[in-house]
Amino acid sequence: RCQLESCRTSSSLGGVQAWTYAYSKGSNLQWHEARQWCQKHFVDMVSIKNKEEAEYLDSFLPHNPTYYWIGVQKVAAKWTWVDTSKPVPVEAQRWASEEPDSLAGQDCVELYIKRAKDSARWNNEKCSKLKEAVCYTASCTQESCSAHGECEEAVGNFTCKCHPGFLGLHCKEAVACKALTDPRQGSHHCVHPNGPNRFNSSCRFHCELGFRLVGVSQLACQGDGQWNHPVPQCEGIMNCSHPISTFSYNSTCEFFCDDGYELAGQNQIRCDHTGQWTAGTPACSGNMVCVDPL
Ligand SMILES: *[C@@H]1O[C@H](CO)[C@@H](O)[C@H](O)[C@H]1NC(C)=O
Ligand SMILES: *[C@@H]1O[C@H](CO)[C@@H](O)[C@H](O)[C@H]1NC(C)=O
Ligand SMILES: *[C@@H]1O[C@H](CO)[C@@H](O)[C@H](O)[C@H]1NC(C)=O
Ligand SMILES: *[C@@H]1O[C@H](CO)[C@@H](O)[C@H](O)[C@H]1NC(C)=O
Repeated sequence: RCQLESCRTSSSLGGVQAWTYAYSKGSNLQWHEARQWCQKHFVDMVSIKNKEEAEYLDSFLPHNPTYYWIGVQKVAAKWTWVDTSKPVPVEAQRWASEEPDSLAGQDCVELYIKRAKDSARWNNEKCSKLKEAVCYTASCTQESCSAHGECEEAVGNFTCKCHPGFLGLHCKEAVACKALTDPRQGSHHCVHPNGPNRFNSSCRFHCELGFRLVGVSQLACQGDGQWNHPVPQCEGIMNCSHPISTFSYNSTCEFFCDDGYELAGQNQIRCDHTGQWTAGTPACSGNMVCVDPL
């Protein structure tokens, strides 16, 4: 006897809430039947968690002379949200004036809609009375949590469980890592799929000619906001000996170039008695490497 005469609408407030409600039409039901109808066709009967929700329903639902059942019921002498089985805190109880009355058996709650007095407020009633059902449907949409989180239904709302590397109410924001600096004698360039120095940014390091990269050449920004390795260093290939003291008379340095580079200049220099190097620092220059064709 319950036709699926439902209307749907959805409303979005501040881009955060995504409520979708449905209601039965022309098939007044007892409280438990109303709840079953909601659970069969939608998610559950609405349980009015805040004022905005009640006022929104008051504007959206058509007038019904016997009003609408909601998902609040007296359980073990306590007014309870039936979807969560949690007692309704006193400050969340939205009773009409002089309600709830203590008449025996008035253990179910209706919502006054488009009533001259106390509209959008609650009244306790006998559960066997006949009223329309007001249900909520899934709030999650594909956009709810961007592409970076799982949407979970909450009453009249949703929450996002973000994937590693993302945060924010909608999981839109990627975790940030500290910006990296060039090593001495080196440079780096990065690819940023999720914004500058954000989760999954990847940076590759290079050293100037003749310098050797020590460490890992490619770093990735991880979900915990840390790069997966320290910044590598570029080490010039130089071997010095200091017979008297560091870089003083008779200190001698020998230079090498990496494979594929040729040393231009003196490969060994010495600090002379005037405090000058016997020659300038040599350079390593790129060289075509010819591979034996045989
Ligand atoms: C809906 O969820 C968002 C984010 O989880 C929260 O900020 C907002 O207050 C919720 N709205 C309601 C009506 O519960
Ligand atoms: C992050 O990188 C991993 C590994 O490369 C990849 O599987 C994943 O799709 C990336 N995710 C995002 C959101 O960039
Ligand atoms: C540096 O010089 C010292 C002394 O001449 C020598 O023992 C050592 O092997 C050299 N190191 C390299 C990397 O050439
Ligand atoms: C400095 O080096 C020169 C040449 O290698 C050597 O003859 C001289 O004895 C050295 N002097 C000292 C104080 O080490």
